[in-house]
Amino acid sequence: MTDPKRAPLRVTVPSLRERKQRAEPISVLTAYDATFARLFDEAGIDVLLVGDSLGMVVQGLPSTLAVTQEEMLYHTRAVARGARRALIVGDMPFLTYQVSAEEALRHAGQFLQHGAHAVKLEGGVTMAPTIRRLVDVGIPVMGHVGLTPQSVHAMGGFKVQGKTDEDAERVLADARAVEDAGAFAIVLEGIPEALAARVTGALAIPTIGIGAGKACDGQVLVSYDMLGLTADLRPKFVKRYAELFDVAKQAAERYADEVKRGVFPGPEHTFGAAARPAPTVSGGAYGPED
Ligand code: KIV
Repeated sequence: MTDPKRAPLRVTVPSLRERKQRAEPISVLTAYDATFARLFDEAGIDVLLVGDSLGMVVQGLPSTLAVTQEEMLYHTRAVARGARRALIVGDMPFLTYQVSAEEALRHAGQFLQHGAHAVKLEGGVTMAPTIRRLVDVGIPVMGHVGLTPQSVHAMGGFKVQGKTDEDAERVLADARAVEDAGAFAIVLEGIPEALAARVTGALAIPTIGIGAGKACDGQVLVSYDMLGLTADLRPKFVKRYAELFDVAKQAAERYADEVKRGVFPGPEHTFGAAARPAPTVSGGAYGPED
């Protein structure tokens, strides 16, 4: 029998490389808080990415560019508290790693001090020396090439990359540079499936695809998208595994209606009420008991 108090074996950086060798697909989801981190961890998700996509899905911004280091560290701490098995990767925000390798090192180190096991940064050939600097001091790095959201303005929008032969060669060269610099895995975002297959075949490190087809060694999705929490966003590459926006909205509507009609709170939710069933469990995560 398994002991529920025993922590499950943590997914590690070296174990992900072995997963590629064994052709065992890797599941990655973004997480931004302790509740979802626990939920995804218990569901068996291998890697939780504290993505700077939180700027868009949590903060309501039009891009990831304004997300700060302090905000990312705050969410990383929360995710780290919720997860016991998954590897936690902190996404380095815009301008925390592009200015110099030394600044990148200081900011990457902070992620590890706040609960992440690795960091992710965007860019290929030009970021390779920075990746090497972090890896050399023991900070595991996940690369990210193809559609790189922090370059949204340079790309003219969130556009699929690598569609021409020349651009495909650029993406492949970027991916190779990231691997040569010592990254342990690489996100391939928004590229044609055939190119993702080529990159995956060319690299020894696992490729984690988003909008890159099924040839990658793993997949990542923005959790709010796949749970159907992002009401107006329906990108082609996202499969919605639930429609939680509708579910949560309906629950809130019922609550509002019951408050208006005086149905909630009922006697079973009220302290000192005459008729109520004997409590079987505690009053909740933080509620008092009478
Ligand atoms: O920030 C993020 O969520 C990401 C994923 C899209 C890979 O970088």
